[in-house]
Amino acid sequence: MKNIAVIGAGTMGNGIAHTFAQKGFKVNLIDISEKSLEKGIATISGNLDRMVAKETISEQDKQDTLANIKTFTQTEEGVKNVDLVVEAATENVDLKLKIFKQLDEITSSNTILATNTSSISITQIAAVTNRQDKVIGMHFMNPVPIMKLVEIIRGYNTSDEVTKAIMDMSETLGKVPVEVNDYPGFVANRILIPMINESIEALYNGVAGVQEIDTVMKLGMAHPMGPLQLADFIGLDVCLSILNVMYNGFKNPKYAPCPLLINMVTAGKLGVKSGEGFYDYSESKKAEKVSKSFIN
Ligand SMILES: NC(=O)c1ccc[n+]([C@@H]2O[C@H](COP(=O)([O-])OP(=O)(O)OC[C@H]3O[C@@H](n4cnc5c(N)ncnc54)[C@H](O)[C@@H]3O)[C@@H](O)[C@H]2O)c1
Repeated sequence: MKNIAVIGAGTMGNGIAHTFAQKGFKVNLIDISEKSLEKGIATISGNLDRMVAKETISEQDKQDTLANIKTFTQTEEGVKNVDLVVEAATENVDLKLKIFKQLDEITSSNTILATNTSSISITQIAAVTNRQDKVIGMHFMNPVPIMKLVEIIRGYNTSDEVTKAIMDMSETLGKVPVEVNDYPGFVANRILIPMINESIEALYNGVAGVQEIDTVMKLGMAHPMGPLQLADFIGLDVCLSILNVMYNGFKNPKYAPCPLLINMVTAGKLGVKSGEGFYDYSESKKAEKVSKSFIN
């Protein structure tokens, strides 16, 4: 596999395109929004600049990486002759089903179709195609160029051959792939998101304040970031939607979202992206707080 298409140039899509391109793959980056493509390329370029400054890569590596990426606004154009599509569009089940139905119609029958979904069933996505054996979850972590893990999710009908090809490909990218089966939340979010929900419950019940809860988990459990701050980074709306997927998928009340989380999302307090969540990210405070938290 040498030619890759990445659908969606947002937070994850540009990181995935960067990672493939830096390893010499030819990447077609596709987004319906020209603006997202421009922003995506600017982000990749800025991240490569930081790597050059740190002497992790050379200026030539940067130029080669950028030269490996082409941008497209038309999916039909971008997926011509690719061996693998990695879909990283907005997390919305109807949108993903529509994209995979279209991909099944317009790509070669040998093309593997992967999705970076955080929570939507791979089996459900595969079921709208005529190649369920070639549909798989490739769940990269944010920020993609830095994080080692790729959670590889086998749908009910994903073949052994396709799973092996994607595990091998992830290793080629310098990542550590872990194979899991397709049940709500997979493994990463099934464990992480209930922990975040429990931290919000502790806050809601008045057990301790935001700083106290995060400090306990940072200093006591050696987590690099407290769970409430992490929730702000993930997006409280995203945490809520993953909890709902698990709650509905397992029909188990232990995954019921905390009422405080529901209230905050309803009130538009979504974390970093809205400027406020458990912490304040207004422009003046943003720079000092965010710069301390990100690993570059
Ligand atoms: N953000 C994270 O930390 C994270 C981590 C792991 C997985 N994910 C998953 O990755 C996926 C993308 O998330 P994100 O955070 O990058 O979202 P994002 O909102 O930053 O980017 C989504 C992009 O998809 C584009 N898009 C929407 N519909 C499209 C279409 N039909 N064709 C092409 N592009 C389209 C949008 O224009 C946007 O640029 C989601 O499935 C999400 O669950 C996110």
